[in-house]
Amino acid sequence: MDLFTAIEARRAIKHYTDEPVSEADFERIMQAVLLSPTSYNIQHWRFIRITDSLLRSKLQRAAWGQAQISEAAELVIVCADTQAWSNKPQRYWANTSAEVQAMMLPMLESFYQGKEQLQRDEAMRSCGMAAQTFMLAAKALGYDTCPMIGFDTDQVADMIHLPAGHVISMFITLGVASRPANPRAGQIPLPALLFENHF
Ligand SMILES: Cc1cc2nc3c(=O)[nH]c(=O)nc-3n(C[C@H](O)[C@H](O)[C@H](O)COP(=O)(O)O)c2cc1C
Repeated sequence: MDLFTAIEARRAIKHYTDEPVSEADFERIMQAVLLSPTSYNIQHWRFIRITDSLLRSKLQRAAWGQAQISEAAELVIVCADTQAWSNKPQRYWANTSAEVQAMMLPMLESFYQGKEQLQRDEAMRSCGMAAQTFMLAAKALGYDTCPMIGFDTDQVADMIHLPAGHVISMFITLGVASRPANPRAGQIPLPALLFENHF
């Protein structure tokens, strides 16, 4: 599927058929996700694929019973390590020269050290990039998705054993739609959102 067609066809889908997502397609989506951009190539994202049906039911309860959580073939929780900038950063430039690595390491450290808000913002930005790649790659393969933040973060953190220094960005459901999305709720026209040079 052409990229613009995928962008236009992707919608937040709340109801799904029983059709599974093949392992090959799941892998292909995830491999595409890993090519998303991140600042300093930090790749903060961590993904939890929910395969335990009991856990899935508990997660659904923590998300106020939203139907897509139990109906979708797959549920992925997009998380991030806010401390990834300090966790063996050499691996983010493993294929570059020693010179590049020597330059990047101190830059990275001074950029993030002691800046907790920035560390969290950066992790969330990375997750947003990953999530959009996930949803568009899924659409290109004929699947549907729904990004979700309608859940109790503390309960979910507990259920997935979220490590210290990590955050939950969103859920994404993945499967084949059984009902189309509602008509688009209302897009703000471009001139109200696009400015030239300054606000
Ligand atoms: C970060 C994020 C969180 C969302 N959380 C939920 C959610 O918890 N439940 C839900 O039904 N839809 C959720 N949505 C879907 C939005 O309502 C939907 O994307 C928006 O209305 C635009 O519709 P579209 O995605 O079909 O174009 C979420 C979307 C985003 C990006």
